[in-house]
Amino acid sequence: MEKVAVITGGNSGIGFALAQRLLAEGVGEGETVRVCLACRNVEKAEAARQSLMTDNPGSEVDIVRVDVSSMASVKAACAEIERRYECVDWLFCNAGLMPVSGVNWRAFWPPTPSNLGYQLGTGGDLLPVTDWQTSDGLQQVFSTNLFGHYLMVQELEGFLSAQTRDCHVIWTSSVTASRATFDPTDIQGKNSADPYAHSKRAVDLVSREINTRMNQKGIYSSTTCPGLVATQLTYGIMPQWFWSLILPLLLLLRICLPSMTMTATSGAEALLWLARQQPSSVDHTHKYLSRASVSGHRYVDTEQIRGAEELSAEVWKQLETLSRTLSSS
Ligand SMILES: NC(=O)c1ccc[n+]([C@@H]2O[C@H](COP(=O)([O-])OP(=O)(O)OC[C@H]3O[C@@H](n4cnc5c(N)ncnc54)[C@H](OP(=O)(O)O)[C@@H]3O)[C@@H](O)[C@H]2O)c1
Repeated sequence: MEKVAVITGGNSGIGFALAQRLLAEGVGEGETVRVCLACRNVEKAEAARQSLMTDNPGSEVDIVRVDVSSMASVKAACAEIERRYECVDWLFCNAGLMPVSGVNWRAFWPPTPSNLGYQLGTGGDLLPVTDWQTSDGLQQVFSTNLFGHYLMVQELEGFLSAQTRDCHVIWTSSVTASRATFDPTDIQGKNSADPYAHSKRAVDLVSREINTRMNQKGIYSSTTCPGLVATQLTYGIMPQWFWSLILPLLLLLRICLPSMTMTATSGAEALLWLARQQPSSVDHTHKYLSRASVSGHRYVDTEQIRGAEELSAEVWKQLETLSRTLSSS
C-alpha cells in the first residue's frame, strides 16, 4: 500500500532527513511512502527531490509550493494537495524559523551544572530572537511556526475527515515550549521576550486541541522535539565552522544530555517513530523527543505537555478569530 507524507520545509535540515528516512527505512511491512515536499523555494525543493530520488531509486517524490507565512499560499497549496492525493496519511508541520540576533553568552553565568544543563538542554536565555511582520500583517515567527500550519489543518479538515484512512498531523515543536511564559491574549507573541518559544508552546496547545476536536473524524495530532541539531536554523545562531569545532564536546555532553542529537538524521527519530505508530494508539498528552546516546544509539523519549488543558481551547478560539478576521479583510 502506498501512503502519503506531506512535509513542510522538507527541502532541508530535519524535514529533508525525515523524507530520506521515510523512503529508505519505510514505515511498515508492505507499505511504501510517497513524499510530498511542501516548500516555499521550488529550486531548493527540486534539488532535494533529485537527491532523494537518486538515493532511493524508484521512489515517488512530489513538490507542492507553499509559503506557510502567507495565507493565500497556504490555501492554494491545500487545494493542490486535495487535487493530487486521495489520502494524506501524515501531515508533518515542520517548516520553522528562529531568527536570532546572536548569542547571549552571559546566560551561562553562573556556570553551575544545573544552569549549563538548562541553557544547553532548552536554549534557556541564550538566544534573543528578532521578529517582523508578514504581508498579511502577522508576526513572522508566529505565522511560520504556527499559524500557517494551523490554517493548513483547517483547510484540509474536510478532505482529511472524508478519506478512508486516519491522518496523523505531526509537529516539529521544541522543548523551548516548556519554558515559555505564554500569554494567550498575545497569541502572536508580539510582546514576548522569546517569540520562538512562545510559538512552539502554542504549537503544543494547538496539537492538543486538534485531538479534542478532530479525533472522531480520524485526525490525530502529536508534537515532537528533534533535540539540538546543526541545521540552517542553528547556523543562524553560530556559523557552521563553529558548530563543527564544538561538535566533539557536544557529542560528549550526550552522557548527561541526550538531547544533543546534532545530526538531522537523529533529529528526525521521533518524527519517524510516530509515523510508524497507529495514530489512535499514541498518547497525545506527551511530546515525543528525539534522543541520541553517547555511543550514537538513537531513541525516543517522552515529556508530558503541562497545563495544556486550561489553555488549548482558548488558543484555538484566538486563531479562529484571527483567521476569520483576515479572511474577511
Ligand atoms: N535545529 C534545531 O536544533 C531545532 C530544535 C528544535 C526544533 N527545531 C524545529 O525543527 C524544524 C525544522 O528546522 P531545521 O532545524 O531543520 O532548520 P532548517 O534546515 O532551516 O529547515 C527549516 C525549513 O523550514 C522552511 N521554511 C522556513 N520558513 C518557511 C516558510 N515561510 N514557508 C515554507 N517553508 C519555510 C525552510 O525553507 P527554506 O529552505 O526555503 O528556508 C526549511 O526548509 C523547525 O520547525 C524548527 O523550529 C529545530
